[in-house]
Amino acid sequence: MKALLLAGGLGTRLRPLTDDLPKPMVPIMGRPLLERIILNLKKSGVDEVVISTYYKSQYIEDYFKPKEDLGVKIHYITEESPLGTGGAIKNAEKFFDDTFLILNSDIVSDIDYADLIKYHKRRRAQVTIASIEVRDTSQYGVIEFDEKGFITAFKEKPKLGESNSKYINAGVYVFEPEVLKEIPENTVVSVERETYPKLLEKGYRMAIYKFNGYWIDIGTIDKYKKVHEDILKGKSKFVSTTSSRGIILGDNVKIHPTAKVIGPAYIGNNTEIDAYATVGPYTVIGNNCRIGQESKVSQSVLWDNVKVRRFARLENAVVTSECIVEVNMEVKNTVFTANRLASTTLTT
Ligand code: GDD
Ligand code: MG
Repeated sequence: MKALLLAGGLGTRLRPLTDDLPKPMVPIMGRPLLERIILNLKKSGVDEVVISTYYKSQYIEDYFKPKEDLGVKIHYITEESPLGTGGAIKNAEKFFDDTFLILNSDIVSDIDYADLIKYHKRRRAQVTIASIEVRDTSQYGVIEFDEKGFITAFKEKPKLGESNSKYINAGVYVFEPEVLKEIPENTVVSVERETYPKLLEKGYRMAIYKFNGYWIDIGTIDKYKKVHEDILKGKSKFVSTTSSRGIILGDNVKIHPTAKVIGPAYIGNNTEIDAYATVGPYTVIGNNCRIGQESKVSQSVLWDNVKVRRFARLENAVVTSECIVEVNMEVKNTVFTANRLASTTLTT
């Protein structure tokens, strides 16, 4: 089975986390989201993926090209200017001659892809859209459907009162390749705003696959933080981990005997925690980090190669790769990136 990963968006709402890397590459528990998505797809029988890129496309290729041991064949297709979600799907047409999956690349979910595909086939649908029920639908695509589970309308980001349905597009689709002929070539097209309404108008069989497991799109920094908290709380199986008293340790972690790690927490590979430092709770430290003597890090997400110097304090913060948090510095309710504090305020 093949899957197309839509990964070309600008990730504007996730700035400054996306200043240097594309949104699908932000780390989730020490590993890029896109890599975790691919590994989860592999468990469901996907053995070939096409990554459709635009913004910072080279970053994605540079990361995955040396990783031939993932066990999934990866193809890349890059746009010179953004084609939109529908245009990106059309652009990748040559890769698909059988039923295939399409995924937005900013979703952390426990969706069972194998079951979704089985459902799609059983309904003999031409497109199946995975859906969850939410209270506030305004930021999503809204799906209306009949009693047999076939979609009757698709409304992208509807205005208040425009739809009574609470079922939203979860950003995971199954397509039969024949529907691709309905998308014009080399044109900017939104699959949500243009293709889906068109397919419905033309009478294609579009099914809704409802699921109620864990699902979140990491479109904003608050949600990015929440995902980590949820995973640490065990609300999602997206990252499979084994923990001892809520503390998940990578390889070769060095914790000084006087340091304190309070779970739930995740400490990445080769990270060192110095004397009398306190880490946790609800804290994720990336790979190759150094948490200095008597420093305190709580409710925070640190990326790779971060140095926290002596007596520094981090609380409810996100710190991106390579940053140095200086001696005595306090980083609270904000993002620290490229060695400067961002104006972003995180909700507590
Ligand atoms: N290749 C390519 N080219 N990819 C793109 C482009 C493009 O021009 N534009 C967006 N993408 C990718 C993004 O990288 C992301 O993975 C996916 O398409 C969806 O784009 P977002 O920008 O994240 O859209 P959204 O969050 O506003 O809405 C979408 O997701 C919701 C669920 O989170 C829609 O699909 C909604 O209907 C849906 O409910
Ligand atoms: Mg999104």
